[in-house]
Amino acid sequence: MPSYKFPKDFLWGTATAAHQIEGNNKLSDWWHWEQNKSFYQKYPLEPSGIACDSYNRYKEDFDLCKKLNNNAVRISIEWARLEPKEGHFSQKEFDHYRNVLKSARNRGLKTFVTLHHFTNPLWLSKRGGWTNAKAPYYFARYSKRCAKELGSLIDFFATINEPDVYVMQSYVVGLWPPNKLNPIFALLAHINMILAHRRAYSAIKSVDGNYQVGIVKNVQHFETFSTSFSLSNFLVHILRFFSSGIFLKPLGRKNDFIGLNYYFTGRIKNLKHSNPNDWVSDLGWWLYPKGIEKVLLALKKYNVPIYITENGLADAKDKNREKFLKEILIHCSRAIEKGTPLKGYFHWSLIDNYEWHQGFWPRFGLVEIDRKADLKRKPRDSFYYFAKISKENKVEG
Ligand code: BGC
Repeated sequence: MPSYKFPKDFLWGTATAAHQIEGNNKLSDWWHWEQNKSFYQKYPLEPSGIACDSYNRYKEDFDLCKKLNNNAVRISIEWARLEPKEGHFSQKEFDHYRNVLKSARNRGLKTFVTLHHFTNPLWLSKRGGWTNAKAPYYFARYSKRCAKELGSLIDFFATINEPDVYVMQSYVVGLWPPNKLNPIFALLAHINMILAHRRAYSAIKSVDGNYQVGIVKNVQHFETFSTSFSLSNFLVHILRFFSSGIFLKPLGRKNDFIGLNYYFTGRIKNLKHSNPNDWVSDLGWWLYPKGIEKVLLALKKYNVPIYITENGLADAKDKNREKFLKEILIHCSRAIEKGTPLKGYFHWSLIDNYEWHQGFWPRFGLVEIDRKADLKRKPRDSFYYFAKISKENKVEG
């Protein structure tokens, strides 16, 4: 049985996001969207409510990370809590996150902290959200404040999570707030997010030049079977560019690392999406672990360390998670062998959580949350599998 060893100091962890686990994120645009029945048609299927109550139960969650033998954890902090009114920062909430980060550190976990994970303060959304020309300025000001207040407890700053998913869902597909379907708004939001990252990068570095600041980008792999020149081949190249280069290239040198979220591969045949869907998650997403290796190799050209900041599957019965993890990690190890500077892997997710417009039914957690029994945390079998990998720093093939 071959064994795939990972480099020394490789980071092993899990990822979560504030709105999805904390509960009662009342000053955010998402909370408002969830309550506002005039928008409430089919989606979101349910409001986030108390979520997993991780705002109060974070120590219990970090104990689970420790049981996983992890040496790192990815969380996000909530802009709406930290800056509840434009220009007014909440010391109480900074103290809260200071305690959160300290308790992660006390458990031997390096901290990977996302500053924006899909949710906005309500005040910002009332001013046009990410279409407002001042959004990059607001975001950089908030980022700088986070660096000053919390920077000494943060090992990696991730500015924005999946900017293009945010733009698509909010301005093109319309499943998320502000549900304004308008290509000009989409373009403005996209440009403002690039500018926001660049400004936040400089703002954080102005507090301490050694802070590590990067982006978290979902990259989808696209492939076709035709080897010679064909329109499908051409389309694949365009789609690959739209999935990564269009956002990553304009960041230039203002990016110390790439956080990669990998969930999807798309196969193109005769100019159409035609995945075999021979192995799918509970959400019907095609599981194709080999795609992660291709994406990693394609990101090598940026010459910065890469962390997989999210990868996982909705699998309530935990029947595929172990096999999926094993295959994903074997492909990661192959990408490392081929020279990719991959430095860590964060599984999505530690616990079952609020899956945005889908509500709570998709179960992404290594740990089940029993919503009928006081949100009790119950590790699934795959939890112990991941704990073993993390402890041994290797995966058996
Ligand atoms: C997001 C998470 C989400 C996960 C699964 C990622 O796109 O960053 O917030 O829960 O995918 O859908």
